Amino acid sequence: MKARMPNTAVVGVQWGDEGKGKIVDMLAARAGIVVRFQGGNNAGHTLVVAGEKVVLHLVPSGILHPSARCVLGNGVVMDPEVLVAELDALEASGRKVDAARLGLSRDLHVIMPYHRSLDAHREEARGGGSIGTTRKGIGPTYEDKVARRGIRLADFIDLQVLASRIQQELPLKNRQIVEWYEGEAHTAEDVLAWAAPLAERLAPHVCDVAGELHAALDVGTPMLFEGAQGTFLDIDHGSYPFVTSSNTVAGAACAGSGVGPGDLQEVVGIAKAYATRVGAGPFPTELDDDLGAHLRRVGREFGSTTGRPRRCGWFDAELVRRAARLNGLTCLVLTKLDVLSGLEVLRIGRGSDADGEAIYEDHPGWTEDLTACRSWDSLPASCQAYIRRVEALVGVPVALASVGPDRVEIVPVDPARSAWMLSDAAQTEAN
Ligand code: IMP
Ligand code: MG
Repeated sequence: MKARMPNTAVVGVQWGDEGKGKIVDMLAARAGIVVRFQGGNNAGHTLVVAGEKVVLHLVPSGILHPSARCVLGNGVVMDPEVLVAELDALEASGRKVDAARLGLSRDLHVIMPYHRSLDAHREEARGGGSIGTTRKGIGPTYEDKVARRGIRLADFIDLQVLASRIQQELPLKNRQIVEWYEGEAHTAEDVLAWAAPLAERLAPHVCDVAGELHAALDVGTPMLFEGAQGTFLDIDHGSYPFVTSSNTVAGAACAGSGVGPGDLQEVVGIAKAYATRVGAGPFPTELDDDLGAHLRRVGREFGSTTGRPRRCGWFDAELVRRAARLNGLTCLVLTKLDVLSGLEVLRIGRGSDADGEAIYEDHPGWTEDLTACRSWDSLPASCQAYIRRVEALVGVPVALASVGPDRVEIVPVDPARSAWMLSDAAQTEAN
């Protein structure tokens, strides 16, 4: 019999796009419930299953495993139009998502059309000083939540309540949009007409996620908490103001879903073997040259949400070490190691000097293609050394290394630490 999976949070430890989707997808095979706890459709997880590419923005990656129930916790902001489109796309690909498969917290906040407008107008207005947001309305929706004038899902699906809430909100929103940004006003009729069919479609999914998780804890259902974005996009711990509007660290798994810190046993940090960032903000180990372009091309580093080219650079050990503490990592998964093949020298960032220039240590690279590697022993010696050095500098054991986009392209680095993470299929391949 399979051992029960510990309750686990999976978080990105750089600037997002570390390859969390693939690891979450792998762990979801063992989970009873998969929970998203922050962010919204600013996230984008690209999964490759049996050669088929699936991009998800809101629905947890666990949806591809029929045994897992997926839920969006109270900490998420949800664009109902995007969610419905995603459900339609899943259904068109033969994966019908009914209310038993997907639950939505009645307490989560809804992204309204005026939030999207405000996000776009603000970015335009910031001009050269823009944050480079995804313009999905994430920030303005969290602002309204904290200002205590947001629209929660329970209110959204009650059309009478919704109508009165929209009447209350629109005057202020329109004033900002029209007078401040010279944009187009939203009418209450239009917003309601947009909302009504979405509310009807989503209503069956609405539930008390926190209460459901408490009941699941009581009977020992294994839970997986799926982080979005990455540690240095965290509103508090990231490179403010070039951050997203939610807490992305593992602690947010509790506040954003309704379980306590003691209910989590494992915190898995996902780190790319190099580094990328989309949008503006500091990036000490950035490669603004041919090498950066090489990483972008080989690693296919283009945003899955916005299509923007990602900025690329070397692995920053100093940063990931800090992330290990901010999240309380119990282990690390190193992804996209295969992308580094063929580089003569690999650099690892070790912090900055007095002028803010990155300090590096150099490592010999390897020429071998890693995508067929399935065991530690099959990795080239210099690749093994690179992994060991990352481990030593970050101060957390590397459990797994990912060597390609497909589910099976994974190498157990520390079998004792990774056995619980591997699906039976991957374990068989690894043996
Ligand atoms: P927002 O989350 O749309 O407000 O964007 C704020 C910043 O976070 C921008 O730099 C975005 O590019 C970045 N960002 C938001 N979501 C993601 C993500 O899932 N991956 C990588 N960067 C993200
Ligand atoms: Mg992404």
